[in-house]
Amino acid sequence: MRQVHFGWPVAVLVTMALGCGGGKKTVSEDASGMARDVHSYGNPQQVRPTHLDLDLEVDFEKKQLRGHATLVLRRLDRTAPLMLDTRDLRIERVETAPAESNDFRPAQFSLQPPDRILGSALRIELPPGADRVRLHYATSPSATALQWLEPSQTAGKRRPYLFTQSQAIHARSWIPLQDSPAVRMTYRARIRTPKDLIALMSARRDFRLGNRKEPPSGDYSFRMPHPIPSYLIALAVGELDSRDIATRSAVWAEPSVVDAAAREFEDTERMIQAVEALYGPYAWLRYDILVLPPSFPFGGMENPLLTFATPTILAGDKSLVSLIAHELAHSWSGNLVTNATWSDFWLNEGFTVYVENRIQEAVYGPERARMEAVLGRQELERELASLPASDQILHIDLKGRDPDEGVTSVPYEKGALFLRHLEQVAGRERFDSFLRSYFQKFRFQSITTAQFRRFLEQSLPDVVAAVPVEEWLTQPGIPRSAPRVVSDELNRVRVHAKKPETADWTTHHWLHFLRLQPKDADLAALDREFGFTQSKNAEILTEWLCMAIRARYQPAERRVREFLLSVGRRKFLRPIYEELVKTPEGLARARAIFAEARSGYHPITVAAIEPMLK
Ligand code: BES
Ligand code: ZN
Repeated sequence: MRQVHFGWPVAVLVTMALGCGGGKKTVSEDASGMARDVHSYGNPQQVRPTHLDLDLEVDFEKKQLRGHATLVLRRLDRTAPLMLDTRDLRIERVETAPAESNDFRPAQFSLQPPDRILGSALRIELPPGADRVRLHYATSPSATALQWLEPSQTAGKRRPYLFTQSQAIHARSWIPLQDSPAVRMTYRARIRTPKDLIALMSARRDFRLGNRKEPPSGDYSFRMPHPIPSYLIALAVGELDSRDIATRSAVWAEPSVVDAAAREFEDTERMIQAVEALYGPYAWLRYDILVLPPSFPFGGMENPLLTFATPTILAGDKSLVSLIAHELAHSWSGNLVTNATWSDFWLNEGFTVYVENRIQEAVYGPERARMEAVLGRQELERELASLPASDQILHIDLKGRDPDEGVTSVPYEKGALFLRHLEQVAGRERFDSFLRSYFQKFRFQSITTAQFRRFLEQSLPDVVAAVPVEEWLTQPGIPRSAPRVVSDELNRVRVHAKKPETADWTTHHWLHFLRLQPKDADLAALDREFGFTQSKNAEILTEWLCMAIRARYQPAERRVREFLLSVGRRKFLRPIYEELVKTPEGLARARAIFAEARSGYHPITVAAIEPMLK
């Protein structure tokens, strides 16, 4: 069989991948309405995994996960082989077993040469009665989903740490599966770790560690009874402790961080109740939060039952907890109702930013929600100014590209603005009940933009007639009729503000204040008055450091280096490096700092920064 190249039409790709075995079926003609996913080699229309059993050992010495994955299959086309996604996996052995028996027998398989973005397709021949396949495998130390931290990169400095980041298409680098958000599976896992470490997953725990009376055993099992897409499978292993913050919520973190985190997130239960009142019951039993080391590449990740969060939101004044509202909102938009392909990503993130803002309004009041909406719009407009038209479209074309490239403020902020527009025209009560039925109708399903649109047209035909839906979904920029949120609180921030009037400012005011500054602002004076260079708030600091680099404000140079060496969150690093590389001297500094920092960055952050420095 020939190598499958990414970027080819999916129909061609699948026909090729099936070789002589598969026959004529193509992804595009799927009868169940399942979407084509250009980012997966899987053939779920023919053979679809419905359950995953993982059994893995965590080897910190070798930086390797080793063990086996068993997939339970639904065989829609009994003659078709099973096609899976993998990246950098060492597949040692593949076996299949017939229904109701544990008689696993060796199976034939072939691993295709890797594609730069998609990894390697794995083809497994299935004997007639087989309904399970077991793969014995090991991960590579450079697996893109995994970050292996040395003790020195943790807060405690004593024990190593491992965490995964599967979204968008990194699950395949630690589990062989059909790595498409259209394919949902239940899962179970058994994870073995060094004895004194704790493993957590995006699933129910089969053990209690609540008050630490029992020492950790190094042998943990988990169960996810609801069908979820692969990008929500997650694992973290480290020296961890927890604090209960409500009956159904705990905060997990390294011991020295856990108390501060529990305080910062004490409003979580109120947030859960706020969404439940709006859109229906929380479906996942518990909502826990794990605060990761600072190299975590994102702000947050909505792993079911266990949100992963960056420590950079521990501002001390709860001013950055909209991130928790955001990840919690994904328990409805994203985890219950999931984008079927990465082109539909705005269905996950636009809905989530909208719901996040509704949570903030319910818990902290309308003015806080308005401030956050205004700041979001500023970010959108700023980014639109530098994005090509094709990347300004909600339903984005990602053929030939890594879906991580589609992560701009467009799916987030433009998506949310579209929903606010619908809300404004429909009226809040009607729109709330529309969303309630949307979450109900599509729960535990993966859907496309077209499916959303049909449902919207059926449910709110008069609203659709008054909102330029087609323009919102398929055209660049922001439609002129988009609503505009105004914040009185931000409007009272003056560009020449002096210290006394800033006494009650939160992160929001400070961000707005910095964004108001003219290009030739006197940074030295601002720094003297407000001490921005020494700010411990990563949002404010990032805004400031970008201004400082642009203005060649030298007193901030050391802080730039220090920050880039201590934090791995892509959202902060990207703009700072982007600003640096604009001048030859800046580029040289960026390269030097990156060379030093690289080993501490997650592979996803490395992938976002490295190309800029070429
Ligand atoms: N699911 C995303 C993170 C993500 C998106 C990871 C795409 C990989 C690919 C998460 O919910 C998110 O949006 N995080 C934001 C936080 C936020 C408050 C906008 C982040 O990390 O900055
Ligand atoms: Zn999100």
